[in-house]
Amino acid sequence: MPTSRIIVPLDYPSARLAEEFVARVSSRECALKVGKELFTAAGPALVSRLVDRGFRVFLDLKYHDIPNTVAQACKAAADLGVWLLNVHASGGRAMMTAAREALAAHPQRPLLIAVTVLTSLDDQALFELGIAEGAVRHAERLARLTSNCGLDGVVCSAWEAGSIKAAHGAGFLAVTPGIRLAEGNAHDQARIATPEAAVRAGADYLVIGRAITQAADPHAMLTGINTSIGTRE
Ligand code: C5P
Repeated sequence: MPTSRIIVPLDYPSARLAEEFVARVSSRECALKVGKELFTAAGPALVSRLVDRGFRVFLDLKYHDIPNTVAQACKAAADLGVWLLNVHASGGRAMMTAAREALAAHPQRPLLIAVTVLTSLDDQALFELGIAEGAVRHAERLARLTSNCGLDGVVCSAWEAGSIKAAHGAGFLAVTPGIRLAEGNAHDQARIATPEAAVRAGADYLVIGRAITQAADPHAMLTGINTSIGTRE
């Protein structure tokens, strides 16, 4: 079935505010991302309600812990019926492998991707952590490790999607935030791309937040972007 490439982050402090937005969109036109703020406030019950309403849910909790703990957390997320979840690649090979193996036999196996280097960390911040090779090289290293561990892909900026696909294959998913409409507001994002440019660069799924959540008519905005970037089979 053709599916929308758009993932809308529910960056809201409560279930009520999140569900007010969700009532305005349909599961055919976007997936939804639940991150740490909303999950901490509203918990797994909200995730289950979104799944029950037919939405593909990206549970963006960026797990990073010892392998057994992360594996069990991934299994609990899969039991909620989420479509996509993520871990920190810097948790290492054993952690990512344990996560993948925990999901392998699940009847509704979610896609599992990794965060490489947080975009809030620059070369200087990494140096303070004992990482001297710089953010770009380090992100490439962690993407390679993620691919070697058999995960489904990474979160990356649209600017890196092309080189990641070239290095790890077309099937290795690139999920890209930092999307801005040509005429829109950049907000606090720096390395931005339009939806069309991100897909041209190789992005599989686009996390598009404020451009949709703050639009006067989110449904019309989704229709326009879906039409211009096309669906994913
Ligand atoms: O499109 P907008 O900037 O509003 O989207 C913000 C969302 O993208 C947030 O949920 C944030 O967690 C996510 N994100 C990001 N930058 C990253 C990774 C994720 O903005 N590097």
